[in-house]
Amino acid sequence: AKITFHHTSGHTDVIDAPPGTSLMRAAVTQGVPGIIGECGGQAMCATCHVYVREAYLDALPPIGEDEDEMLDCTAADRDDTRSRLGCQIQVGDGLDEIEVDLPNSQV
Ligand code: FES
Repeated sequence: AKITFHHTSGHTDVIDAPPGTSLMRAAVTQGVPGIIGECGGQAMCATCHVYVREAYLDALPPIGEDEDEMLDCTAADRDDTRSRLGCQIQVGDGLDEIEVDLPNSQV
């Protein structure tokens, strides 16, 4: 699946990740800066915060309870519609492509 990360600098990283991989894991594994993933993907750190581009929002599963709580603890402001935790977004299975904007800070 194709994942596009738009950095605040204007730089863009485009990577390919196998189905079943979380957006956080894909970024960390492939060296995309701007995503930390401190808790390892358990929705407990909020250092994998991303703003999902509108075109892809409908393809995502609803925000889980833990995710919702952590999204209130992000370093950068939460966006009501676009903020998600990268570790809770899995590519593949109906999500072959996604584009996200990175926040200016994760800590
Ligand atoms: Fe910790 Fe996503 S990696 S909340």
